[in-house]
Amino acid sequence: MVLTDREASLIKSSWKIMEERRIENPLIFYDAFFETAPDAKKYFPRDDFSKLGRKFNYTMDFIVSNCHQLDEIKDSIEDLGRIHVKLKIENEFYEKFNESLLVLVDKILGTQNSKEIETSWSKALTHIAGIMQNAPEKEENKFQQLLRKLFG
Ligand code: HEM
Repeated sequence: MVLTDREASLIKSSWKIMEERRIENPLIFYDAFFETAPDAKKYFPRDDFSKLGRKFNYTMDFIVSNCHQLDEIKDSIEDLGRIHVKLKIENEFYEKFNESLLVLVDKILGTQNSKEIETSWSKALTHIAGIMQNAPEKEENKFQQLLRKLFG
């Protein structure tokens, strides 16, 4: 088990408060992210933040609903990691991604926030980022690479 029961339940209860602000969440998050990591803007050439916002909430729902069993969603997280490798996302941005999520948690929870809540979110995000960054290449990709190497 990656998170303790207590950590998972703190994530779930804090997201319950946060998810009531579904429109603001991605705006606050990406504002914080681009402020702390202005270089990351280059990865988002399109201005369509409404789609990005919906993806953000969907991903958060997925992570939160599985946060008590992160091992069970390892394959999906690895898939996500491979998508980010394709996008050529550098590892240094993951820490800033994590920090920006804590800014969001703090802004929405306000006085209801606590060090323990922040540590729980941070632990989940660090774990997910680690799996994404170390996702193995898919076997088909390796085979494809071999064919490309042999036959161009
Ligand atoms: C734990 C960390 C992260 C999670 C859970 C996450 C999650 C996601 C998800 C679910 C998607 C949508 C994938 C799709 O539509 O196929 C996505 C796309 C993307 N992510 Fe991340 N991400 C993370 C970290 C990062 C970081 C550090 C960057 C750095 C800039 C980044 C940049 C992007 C970009 C540029 C896209 C494509 C945007 C688009 O759909 O137009 N992500 N991410």
